[in-house]
Amino acid sequence: MRDPPRRLTPAKAVLAAFAAAGVLAAAGGAAFVGLGVYDVSATGPHWQPVHSLLELALKRAVQRRADAHPPPNDLLTPQRVMQGAACFRDRCVACHGAPGIAPEAFSLGMQPVPSSLVEATRHWRLQDLYWITRNGIKMSGMPAWEYRLEEGELWSVVAFLEALPLMTPDQYRALTSAPEAAPRRAATSAGPAASAPVRGTPRCDGLVEAPAPLAPPLSSAELARRAFRQHGCTACHTIPGVVGPETSNGPRLSGLAGRDRIGGKAFPTEDGLAAWIRNPQAIDAHSAMPTLQVSENQARLMARYLLAH
Ligand code: HEC
Ligand code: HEC
Repeated sequence: MRDPPRRLTPAKAVLAAFAAAGVLAAAGGAAFVGLGVYDVSATGPHWQPVHSLLELALKRAVQRRADAHPPPNDLLTPQRVMQGAACFRDRCVACHGAPGIAPEAFSLGMQPVPSSLVEATRHWRLQDLYWITRNGIKMSGMPAWEYRLEEGELWSVVAFLEALPLMTPDQYRALTSAPEAAPRRAATSAGPAASAPVRGTPRCDGLVEAPAPLAPPLSSAELARRAFRQHGCTACHTIPGVVGPETSNGPRLSGLAGRDRIGGKAFPTEDGLAAWIRNPQAIDAHSAMPTLQVSENQARLMARYLLAH
């Protein structure tokens, strides 16, 4: 008698099928990347299913994180709506447009194209809007404003977005035009809570000395890494321990503590480095390194990191 042919148990068959599928997927993925199949152009949109999936992933990711920052109780004051309008005009309208105002030409060429925010409060809770504005959205073109708008200004933008659905183009223009003339008139029609008296004209200054505390708190090395990325340092410098593109626009920033000079002039102390980082041209008028609006606190944070690496 011959032995019966050996059979896979069902469990083993399933495992083998998964393994085969895994190998195929990995090979397919490698070919997809290696052969350059994916269309990275900004004129070629995602397929609709991919687009919908990304939207869902974005929504869930934001909702999961946003609850750490509940909105302040007095969010919808006319003062805040006005300050939010000033910030929106200065930082957002170029990409997102506003009632009666088209976005700038460059933003229409972006993929994804920045959406109109008139209905943003229908899709997002207030804390979601705060989270998105503060943190930005990776790989989308939506910048993070954490280092460019103060905590109060971030919430003012959210207050403005809350008032936006009821705002006419005339009201928007009045809110954001001539600082002295506009606010009082506009505030009466700017939406909820807009009838209270209004003092002064809020501005959107946006110089952030130190971003509001984060949950969970970050170590000072992690904060320094964020600061490098958020000020574009990694566009020109390779910095030890900081993820960024391969670049040699500027020198590699390592071993600075052991040097006589930095940038050929300043001294490699915390003071000297911070001064260079804040304003290289004040130290060397011919430096190719731009002045990047780095606050004193942020410059010192970066200097300490560089001296330790
Ligand atoms: C350089 C262009 C650009 C600027 C400037 C910009 N954004 Fe965006 N924003 C985007 C892009 C791109 C997206 C992703 C596509 C989308 O969903 O709109 C986005 C998405 C958003 C979203 C999510 C919208 C949604 O429904 O999915 C919000 C909210 C938002 N931005 C708020 C702001 C605020 C507030 C400002 C100003 C402080 C701002 N943005 C400035 C480009 C920009
Ligand atoms: C557009 C490119 C560019 C950006 C962005 C940039 N740098 Fe530089 N950086 C340079 C160049 C080029 C030099 C060389 C010195 C010169 O220009 O004379 C330099 C020099 C330096 C030096 C002195 C290095 C040495 O070896 O002497 C430090 C420190 C430094 N940069 C830190 C920074 C930090 C921190 C940031 C972000 C806030 C930054 N840089 C952003 C281009 C850049």
